[in-house]
Amino acid sequence: MRFDVLTLFPEMIENACSHSIIKRAVEADVISINTINPRDYTLDKHKKVDDTPYGGGAGMVLMAQPYVDAYESVKKMKNSITLLMTPQGESFNNEMCRDLSKFEQIIILCGHYEGYDERIREIIKPKEVSIGDFVLTGGELPALCIIDSVSRKLDGALGKIESMEYDSFEDGLLEYPQYTKPREYRGLEVPEVLLNGNHALIEEYRKSQQIERTKLRRPDLYNKYLKSNK
Ligand code: ADE
Repeated sequence: MRFDVLTLFPEMIENACSHSIIKRAVEADVISINTINPRDYTLDKHKKVDDTPYGGGAGMVLMAQPYVDAYESVKKMKNSITLLMTPQGESFNNEMCRDLSKFEQIIILCGHYEGYDERIREIIKPKEVSIGDFVLTGGELPALCIIDSVSRKLDGALGKIESMEYDSFEDGLLEYPQYTKPREYRGLEVPEVLLNGNHALIEEYRKSQQIERTKLRRPDLYNKYLKSNK
């Protein structure tokens, strides 16, 4: 999987991807992460990437030319998708994450501070993606959420110990509660069932905890789960 990220702040992407599991996935050639700075594609000597909006209004708007030229400089692979990070996009979730993990290349366009000239959308026709109903200062953090969550779905990215088999959402339910040593901490005991080595019982306990948790915390997911398990 290759990620090509168009960003005015490439260090934000590069720094965040040089730690832990994502760093290891890059070293193991499971993923590669490339950044392209639209500022390098400007045509004026001031390297201007934004300008005031036509019709007036507050703030600046990202100019189409540097973004479109930067985008067109990216060598497209056969099985490629282009995403534009914006709070106006489709909400990102585990299902979209799984779909994205099937591509060979994901090109991600990040804005910063301001809006995009609409012609960026008209020319590039990206899939627009939001990571939630809040506004960030730029698309770099959303892009990193996508890179991180998609990468961990790829074969060879996670070690056995970090397996995603029991991840929240994988079976439509939230994850069960986990405990490690010591057996008692500040008077709080690890549930007895986890200590007796009866794997069938443990599995049953964990499943019931998953269901209980999801019902309490995410009734929307719980109702979906009920419908698909009828
Ligand atoms: N850019 C700014 N806010 C965003 C969000 N919530 N999702 C995706 N891109 C964004």
